[in-house]
Amino acid sequence: MVDEPLSVTVLGSTGSIGMSTFDLLARDPQAYRVEALVAGRNVERLIEQAKTLKPKLAVMADPEFYAALKEGLSGTGIEVAAGDDAVIAAADRPAKWVMAAIVGAAGLKPTMKAIQRGAVVGLANKETLVSAGDVVTRAVRDSGAVVIPVDSEHSAIFQVLDFEQKDKVEKIILTASGGPFRTMGGNEMARVTPKQAVAHPNWSMGAKISVDSATMMNKGLELIEAHHLFDMPEEKIDILVHPQSVIHSLVAYVDGSVLAQLGTPDMRTPIAYALGWPRRISAPVPRLNLAEIATLTFERPDNNRFPALELARAALRRAGSMPTILNAANEVAVGLFLDHKIGFLDIARLVAETMEAVDACELQGLEDVLAADAEARIRAQEIARRLTR
Ligand SMILES: NC(=O)c1ccc[n+]([C@@H]2O[C@H](COP(=O)([O-])OP(=O)(O)OC[C@H]3O[C@@H](n4cnc5c(N)ncnc54)[C@H](OP(=O)(O)O)[C@@H]3O)[C@@H](O)[C@H]2O)c1
Repeated sequence: MVDEPLSVTVLGSTGSIGMSTFDLLARDPQAYRVEALVAGRNVERLIEQAKTLKPKLAVMADPEFYAALKEGLSGTGIEVAAGDDAVIAAADRPAKWVMAAIVGAAGLKPTMKAIQRGAVVGLANKETLVSAGDVVTRAVRDSGAVVIPVDSEHSAIFQVLDFEQKDKVEKIILTASGGPFRTMGGNEMARVTPKQAVAHPNWSMGAKISVDSATMMNKGLELIEAHHLFDMPEEKIDILVHPQSVIHSLVAYVDGSVLAQLGTPDMRTPIAYALGWPRRISAPVPRLNLAEIATLTFERPDNNRFPALELARAALRRAGSMPTILNAANEVAVGLFLDHKIGFLDIARLVAETMEAVDACELQGLEDVLAADAEARIRAQEIARRLTR
């Protein structure tokens, strides 16, 4: 029996995860029918991708690029659209599988739309779960959507966690590379530039997540993400620094067994896992050669030099909208750092001060999340002005 092509939509198709997804789709055109491709501002790349994958619809979030998109795809028969509403409408189109790879809280509404209509969602956009964890989890339960984690750590856990015996799990252990400043002293860290911060030693990623990796806020966000994905309490999630990024995460069971998933640091492996789920499909990634690597090392994270980790734990313990506040303040702080407006160490400082300045509230639905997010951004900007005076 020949399988029907899988209908797919890629939200954030021009980004780092989007391009890895594009690569897998383009290698096997018979296996997929592309419903929609969605980008932010990189119109040239979207046009190029659309010409190859021939989606039914191509969308730019920024309406400024509508004319260029329309002209670039004229004569192809591909429908074009632009603007935030068009992004959400694209997520609502009937693709069975959706890659959620828009960066930041901008991905929240379209990801929720795909979840609400019951799609299988490959979730790269961790900010969605950090910002709106309980709201997303409820929506998944109500719609019957399936969320397959794409973050390499969560993909690893998803692959080795015995969902039937979750009560026999002692710990989830998220590995962290430690980022580019793992061994750097505090004084030197105060002076690092955005260029240094985005140069990750193992992974090639977008600017925001690269800075998050450098502050280790990325691991903090992943801790909150893991809490929601696997329904694990904060105290059962450990962080282990593993600079080689070969072991992508581990699960420890009550009988002393520790199961791990390993691979070379190439996001096409977790993306392929999500795309093929529940089966495995091949991915053209470099194969793991442990004899060549020879040594794998591990360290405890340094919470003094990387305070972001503890901020994320505190946000999760304080619950309600506190993780939303943490995420929003972090997005503001990373944006200001990338614009050379604040220093590297100010990122965690700004997040901590915003968490103190804004009261957490209950989150009943998406509107509450968006309101908490907006308030935290305003307060973070105010605090940043004071920090930079
Ligand atoms: N990169 C990784 O290895 C990796 C690993 C695990 C998890 N993740 C997560 O995956 C997500 C994407 O990361 P990334 O590294 O791929 O980021 P990225 O390279 O910066 O790409 C972000 C994508 O989102 C699009 N976008 C930005 N703002 C948008 C908006 N308002 N509306 C619609 N689209 C918008 C961008 O479009 P334009 O470029 O056209 O502006 C781009 O396609 C993040 O949440 C990140 O934490 C990434």
